[in-house]
Amino acid sequence: MHLPEPRGPLSETLCRDLATRTALSATTIERADRVAAGGACALTDEDLQIGLAVLYELHYRGFDGVADDWEWDPALLRVRAGLERRHLAGLRHLVGPIAVTDEPIDRQLAALIAADDGPSLSAFMAKHGTLDQWREYLTLRSVYHLKEADPHTFAIPRLSGRAKAAMVEIQADEYGGGAPARMHSELFAGLMRDLGLDPAYGALWDEAPAVAFASVNTMSLFGLHRRWRGAALGHLAAVEMTSSEPSRRYSAGLRRLGFDERVTVFYDEHVEADAVHEQIASVDMCGSLVADEPELASDVLFGAACSLAMDGVAATHLLGAWETGRSALRGERGLAA
Ligand SMILES: [Fe+2]
Ligand SMILES: [Fe+2]
Repeated sequence: MHLPEPRGPLSETLCRDLATRTALSATTIERADRVAAGGACALTDEDLQIGLAVLYELHYRGFDGVADDWEWDPALLRVRAGLERRHLAGLRHLVGPIAVTDEPIDRQLAALIAADDGPSLSAFMAKHGTLDQWREYLTLRSVYHLKEADPHTFAIPRLSGRAKAAMVEIQADEYGGGAPARMHSELFAGLMRDLGLDPAYGALWDEAPAVAFASVNTMSLFGLHRRWRGAALGHLAAVEMTSSEPSRRYSAGLRRLGFDERVTVFYDEHVEADAVHEQIASVDMCGSLVADEPELASDVLFGAACSLAMDGVAATHLLGAWETGRSALRGERGLAA
């Protein structure tokens, strides 16, 4: 995987430093401080989001030509912490205050989901999505699905008992239950290939808009900080609880365009698996965590709310662009433009 194209002053010097130096330059540190102190729209800030994604990627598969030693570089972690503070402020602003009640956490999660009034992208894709719009949607989602399950998996060693066993049960399915070809990331890569997209890990980063990275950066932040373990579990629960029905609609959208079950397997798999995962995630995983550590209830709900809200931001971005006949991808790279 190659370093992405820069999207502003910070990502420009950050990527140059990673490729050519052994320590961050003063310019990068100064630019990162400026981005960290920036204003409201953190979640759509291209320079911030690609910069944060590059820093997190050092914990995943890294980049060609970038030394592994960068992963725990203290100056780099300090820069990342500044960007994370602004990202978190953006998330808090997006989801607003969250009320915790005395109800079991699975019911509170269900209520949060029921109250979500974000636009339904799956309904649009089922009925109207064109092949070009499908390619744009998959390009955006590839930033997550080609590493599907990995961000949440970072949280596993931070858990114990039933919550841990439940999360491992879910993640084992995400990783194909021992069959590499059944890994959800592999099924997604197959779908990309079938629709004529490059399925290589990270190959389409340069085309994906900030919101794609903001969504994955949120998961990485929750997974990589023990302090945010409750949010990581709440986020995963919301993903699982809102997957089965929409997956059915996405599958229907592809079949409407003439694709058969060989192509729709990624979604068909999620219709089945996530109907089961929903219960394990909300009752066993989040329920056990909150039973052991009741003070984490608000973090669980915050993580779930972030998942729902980021899906809403992505849907609004895609539908808004398509409504006006524009591509939702970056610049002139847009496929449907
Ligand atoms: Fe999955
Ligand atoms: Fe799942």
